Amino acid sequence: MSQATTKRGGFGGKLAAILAAAGSAIGLGNIWRFPYITSENGGGAFILIYLGCILLLGLPLLIAEFAVGHNSKCNPIDAYAKLRKGWGWLGAMGIVSVFLIMGYYFVISGWTLNYTIASATDSIGSDFGGFFSSFTTATWRPLIYTYLFIIANHFIIVGGVQGGIEKASKVMMPLLFAILIILAIYSLWLPEGREALTNVFTPDFSKVSGSTFLAAMGQAFFTLSVGMGAMLIYGSYFKDGTKIAGTAISVVSLDTLVALIAAVIIFSAGVENENGPQLAFVAMPKVFSTMPLGNIWATLFFLLLGLAALSSTISMHEAVTSYFVEKRGMSRNKGAIIVTVATILLATAASLSLGDWSDFKIAGMNIFSLLDNFTAIVMLPLLGILTAIFVGWLWKSEDMKAELTAQGGVDKATYPVIRFLLRYVCPVLVSVVFVFGIIEFIKNL
Ligand code: TRP
Repeated sequence: MSQATTKRGGFGGKLAAILAAAGSAIGLGNIWRFPYITSENGGGAFILIYLGCILLLGLPLLIAEFAVGHNSKCNPIDAYAKLRKGWGWLGAMGIVSVFLIMGYYFVISGWTLNYTIASATDSIGSDFGGFFSSFTTATWRPLIYTYLFIIANHFIIVGGVQGGIEKASKVMMPLLFAILIILAIYSLWLPEGREALTNVFTPDFSKVSGSTFLAAMGQAFFTLSVGMGAMLIYGSYFKDGTKIAGTAISVVSLDTLVALIAAVIIFSAGVENENGPQLAFVAMPKVFSTMPLGNIWATLFFLLLGLAALSSTISMHEAVTSYFVEKRGMSRNKGAIIVTVATILLATAASLSLGDWSDFKIAGMNIFSLLDNFTAIVMLPLLGILTAIFVGWLWKSEDMKAELTAQGGVDKATYPVIRFLLRYVCPVLVSVVFVFGIIEFIKNL
């Protein structure tokens, strides 16, 4: 391990660190998931609770994960074990969770590729729901797009931290922001867009219930990629002198901005009543088809979704690959191949579970929903609680303090606030929401 750690790669500078970590955070969670979760949970009121979760829980956890990564300069398993003997399992739990997320996340990523091509070639047709269901339940077509996406990921990872991840982030993220801004300007220019928007963002507190908090917290953790080792591994690649808290604040701000702008784009198209995961894939193409130059807007939209997905999946792949490279002493090539092959197998099962294998169910769910629900409802909150306890209570407090204040850009007065959030607020709040979440989940089975 010591040999591997001395040879490990890293980001070239501060901007690279921000772009790569923002790339991990900004993903399907922002553009596909956030808008439909928001519309299912009452719009503006949900957004306020969500912003609270981001600030009180997400941001401190992201800072904590960056700090653990940067201080240990290790893959997630060695990182926790190095900072406290016997705690490597926490990193392993994160890696397993990230792998399970990859199983279904790559399937949706594959859909974005198909939709980008189908929009550009005007081949979606006029039956938008029919196109979606016949495509996603087919055997080979969705698999081929998913495999293409996984292979693109593979080559970025094999390119290395600087030559692959950093380079890809520096190209993809500016392109993503540019497309997002073009789409936002266009949607705000539509008069019905502005009206729809006011409706959505006006808070309606009558729709707030226990499950609203649950959904908001789950979304906050998912969108920031916290607790799973992906941000930890990126933190471990930060060059010395990269401000940890500052980077986390930039990442959280960009991520929140993208989620809000994505919601503006989607709701201003007037689709706020069409709920659920099909919002981006069924309702949006339908709306685009009624606009002048609709194909171009649709193509840009799905390209945006695909870019966001790709910059997230590379961080997932990297978190798992780093384990094989550093812990198992494999070459980067070999480690990446193992992860890619395993991902292909899991994603195949997830994709087929929507069609040919849809009769195979565990606890009433197909494989796709099982991976989604198990990670979102069980693993994410659990990892959030454990990470907060680890950093707040178990890691030597001088090390954490030094990591944040010495070069992390946090002043002496702000540090206790972060520490307080990690020691008390995160474990307690997340536990309460977690327990209610599990009860509700079991009731709904
Ligand atoms: N943050 C990503 C998004 O919003 C999704 C995600 C969840 C993720 N967990 C992750 C990305 C772990 C990388 C690593 O789409």
